[in-house]
Amino acid sequence: MIPPPLHYEPMDSFSEKIAVVTGAGDGMGRSLALQLAAAGCHVALCDVLADKLAATADQVRAASPNVRVTSHSCDVADETQWLQLRDDVIAEHNTDHIHLLFNNAGIAGSGSMIVDDRDRWERTFNVCWNGVYLGTRTFLPLLTAAPEARLVNTSSVNGFWASLGPDVSHTAYSAAKFAVKGFSEALITDLAINAPHVGVSVVMPGHIGTGIAENSVVVHGGETDPGVTEMAATFRNSAPMTADEAAAIILQGVQEAKWRILVGEDAHVLDMAVRADPEDAYQPDFRERLGNHFDGLVD
Ligand SMILES: NC(=O)c1ccc[n+]([C@@H]2O[C@H](COP(=O)([O-])OP(=O)(O)OC[C@H]3O[C@@H](n4cnc5c(N)ncnc54)[C@H](O)[C@@H]3O)[C@@H](O)[C@H]2O)c1
Repeated sequence: MIPPPLHYEPMDSFSEKIAVVTGAGDGMGRSLALQLAAAGCHVALCDVLADKLAATADQVRAASPNVRVTSHSCDVADETQWLQLRDDVIAEHNTDHIHLLFNNAGIAGSGSMIVDDRDRWERTFNVCWNGVYLGTRTFLPLLTAAPEARLVNTSSVNGFWASLGPDVSHTAYSAAKFAVKGFSEALITDLAINAPHVGVSVVMPGHIGTGIAENSVVVHGGETDPGVTEMAATFRNSAPMTADEAAAIILQGVQEAKWRILVGEDAHVLDMAVRADPEDAYQPDFRERLGNHFDGLVD
């Protein structure tokens, strides 16, 4: 017998819910934390960069003094740190469940299988993929323990197009983001069968104006220099959308129970273009043919 059509109930309100946000120290994670808290959601913030995490926590507490804000140092590529995060969230939020997990943390870099260092390649892959996988494994019992819950995994346009164009290798990030998208899509049916009150969304942003270029260098253990800072500024300033705008779209998609959340006009254009012409998607002029949507995209 074919089950009834899949239908997640919209999450009417974030008020009095509990959300865990990874990569909350900057960019879309910080914006998600601020907007969730402004909507009355208690937030557990995680990041690997302590000063950025503290800055986000201060901003959220100042803007939303009525919600509970906890901050947690956690490297999402490390299962031991996830288990510690889970235990801390249970203790500090005095809870046996959470309603929302935003697997948002990610880094770029080390794109080539041929010439780049293997450890750095695997660092990018492990943060972007294992970060989502381990987070889901660790927190699924707490999500299923809530009356309604949502798992929100951040992939990328590189989850359906494994390229930035013909002049740059992009294998580690793309492989991880494809994995995040495939995992999330497969979870739709798994959750529908085994935990139908838990929904899953996969987020696929286009070019969003964040500090990811510089943060990735730091998380990889590198030094920033004027060249990195300038490249990061170009990436941020040339983006067609801000992190705040992106977070608003993500939260709207979560509330409306959408499983696929494309963020930005560029993401929509690219999605249609790849679907329309998959065989040509890696031709050197493919990106050019999309017009000026991807100007400034450097990582
Ligand atoms: N900015 C874009 O154009 C864009 C496009 C598509 C997808 N994304 C994805 O969106 C997500 C958020 O990116 P962003 O642009 O806001 O970047 P960002 O650098 O502004 O924020 C990411 C945060 O994640 C943290 N982080 C990195 N590695 C971590 C780890 N191992 N453990 C815990 N925290 C870690 C960083 O310190 C940073 O605070 C990422 O998954 C990224 O791949 C970004």
